[in-house]
Order: sequence, then structure tokens, then C-alpha cells
Amino acid sequence: MATKVIVNIPGEEPYDVRIGAGVLDALGRRMRGVPSLERTERALVITDSNVAPLYRDQAKESLAAAGFRVSDIVVPAGEDTKSVEVAGEIWEAMAQLSLGRDCVVVALGGGVVGDLAGFAASAYMRGVALVQVPTTLLSMVDSSVGGKTGVNLAAGKNLVGAFKQPAYVCADTATLATLPEREWTCGCAEIAKSAVIDSDEFFFWLVDAAGALAAREDEAVAEAIARSVVFKADVVAQDKTESRGVRECLNYGHTLGHAVETLAGYGAFSHGAAVAEGMRFAARLAVELVGASADFVAAQDDLLDALGLPALAWSADPADMLDAMKRDKKARRGQVRFVLLRDVGSWELLDVDDAAILEHLGAWVRSKE
Ligand SMILES: NC(=O)c1ccc[n+]([C@@H]2O[C@H](COP(=O)([O-])OP(=O)(O)OC[C@H]3O[C@@H](n4cnc5c(N)ncnc54)[C@H](O)[C@@H]3O)[C@@H](O)[C@H]2O)c1
Repeated sequence: MATKVIVNIPGEEPYDVRIGAGVLDALGRRMRGVPSLERTERALVITDSNVAPLYRDQAKESLAAAGFRVSDIVVPAGEDTKSVEVAGEIWEAMAQLSLGRDCVVVALGGGVVGDLAGFAASAYMRGVALVQVPTTLLSMVDSSVGGKTGVNLAAGKNLVGAFKQPAYVCADTATLATLPEREWTCGCAEIAKSAVIDSDEFFFWLVDAAGALAAREDEAVAEAIARSVVFKADVVAQDKTESRGVRECLNYGHTLGHAVETLAGYGAFSHGAAVAEGMRFAARLAVELVGASADFVAAQDDLLDALGLPALAWSADPADMLDAMKRDKKARRGQVRFVLLRDVGSWELLDVDDAAILEHLGAWVRSKE
């Protein structure tokens, strides 16, 4: 059974997110149900070299059956592909294919493909329609919804991009069967993050469902995705262009997480493992700074353990960690900011002074000894 979540962002056309096993087969038919795509003739599937052999034909067949004339572009898998150069190659290929303003770009893959293809769609001929077909758990719960697209520069990640809402999102949970475990837990970290920020209702549901989610049971997976999409859509609806501070809550766990990724070397730990470590650190900081309880820290630890995100057996020099946090693009004028939770469902953004951070980093290092 498929679940439908409607994303309604002020000033944008509302769009559906369909979630469930097998929804990819109905991709073309569902797209025809979107008024702006009713008469669209041409569809361009953009996917990566891992996803293409698995799901490209299924997507193309569904689109062709609904009357789209379909082309595809396959980019190399991996974060390096999210570049200005590859975006340029896509635009040249789109022009070679004589695609006009009335085509639709179908992003089939994880967050890398979604961000890259979304950015390509946002700028080709000043903007063509976009459909997101996320195939990683992370992209289903996070990146395919909310409209952020972009590419990386040598100077940093996601430094060039655009807000581009999709016309439709198709999250086929059957595609997750082939997802490697490391990528699976990345999605679980984002789901845990959404639940603790959102509400007791989501959090306690997830505590109960954590075993089933870790075992990839379809019902739990589909519900976790739907709940996360509702949460993300709600945050984005309040802060479409990240100008009101509401969207900052999505950075929970990322302040320490980014420093871990930087100092351990990109790829040493998955992004999800680094974010989970950042959530553990932020919860401990929150006890002192915003009055969070020890019970909250323990409950969040247990949840992350149950989702296959154990505390890292790794640490780094506190001074180096602080330095990495200050160099992060999210730091403001050298001031390190943390999203801190007073409790489940109640967050604030706090500039934390160096002395307090160093003290807690010292305790963090000692906890690893
Ligand atoms: N736009 C946003 O709001 C937003 C939010 C969070 C993350 N992101 C971006 O998302 C990217 C990370 O996304 P990701 O974690 O999905 O990474 P990814 O796109 O690199 O996918 C991870 C790996 O899984 C492979 N893969 C994808 N689907 C598969 C499947 N069904 N079976 C087997 N293999 C599969 C991919 O080829 C890749 O090797 C980052 O670039 C990040 O900046 C964007």
C-alpha cells in the first residue's frame, strides 16, 4: 500500500510524495496526474552509474508507457559528481538532445543525483520541471523534499545552487533492497534527527519501531519516511529559503558531525555516523546549557544504538575540533553555533563560547579512552 504526503509550501504548487513498494511502476502515470506535466512530451532521466543498471529501465518503461519520449544521462556515482563541470556537461547534453522549456528532468538516485539534476533543471532555459525519484533512504527522508539543489565548489560543499521544488516525488521503498548498509544507517540518522526535533509522538513511535526499521521491514520503513517527510515539509513551509532561522533545526548534530568528517577525513565515517555522534555530543552540551535531562541523553543514545549508529570509537584533539567547527561555513564570525534540545520537540540555536566547547570536547575525548 502506498502512502501519499502532500507538500504544501507557501507560494509554490503543492506536490505529492508517494511512498511504498512498487510506486516506481506508476511513475509515468502519476506524473500525468500533475497538471503542469499533463501535456509534457519529453522526459530526461538523470541517474548515476550504480543506480542505472538497477532501476533506469523500470523508470524509463513507466515513463514511456505514459507517453513520454524518454532520454537518459548517466553520471559517475559519488560526491565528486556534484560539480559545476558535470552540471555543465548535463546542460550541453540537454541542448544536444534539443530539449525545450517544456521538458521534465527526472532525478533517479540518491542525494547526489537529486541535488545535481535538480540544479540542472533549475537553470536549463531558466528552469524546467523536476521530478525526484529518490533511491537512498537519506534522499527519501531528506534531500528530495524541500527544494534545495546545488553543486560543490573546491572551496566547500553546496556553495552554488538554487531552490527548486519538484512537481512530484516518487519514493519506491523496493529500491532500498539494494542499498548498502552504510547508506542505510545514513538515512536512519536523519530519521532519528527528525524525530527528536519534531515531537514526543514521532520520537516514541520511532523508539518502538527502531528494531523493525533496522531490519528494513517495509511497513516501518514506509512510515518512518512518511513521518520524516511530513516533518521536513513542515519546517520548509515555515522557512522556504532558509531566511527565518526555522530551517536551522535541521542542522542538529551537524556542528560536531562536520568537524568529525573533516578531521577523520571524508569517507572515514559515513555522514550519518558523524551526525549521530554530533547528536550525542549536542545532547550532553544541552544538559549544561539549556537544562536538558540525563534521561533525554540516555533515551537518544539508546535510540541511536538501536538504529545501528553506535558511539564512535574515535576522537581528536579538542583544539583541532574547535578549529574545524570555526572554519565550518555555518559558523558566524568565528562563533560556533549549536542546535540544542531542551527536550524532545523543543530546540534552540545557541552561540556557545570556546571555553564551554573545549571543556565538553575534553569530556568527549575522555569518554573514548
Ligand atoms: N538538498 C538537500 O536538502 C540535501 C539534504 C541532505 C543531503 N543532501 C546531499 O545529499 C548527498 C548525499 O546523498 P546520499 O546519501 O543519497 O548519497 P549518494 O547519492 O551518493 O548515494 C549513496 C550511494 O548509494 C548508491 N545508491 C543510490 N541508490 C541506491 C540503491 N537503491 N541501491 C544501491 N545503491 C544505491 C549511489 O550510487 C551512491 O554510491 C550529499 O551530496 C548531500 O549534500 C542534500
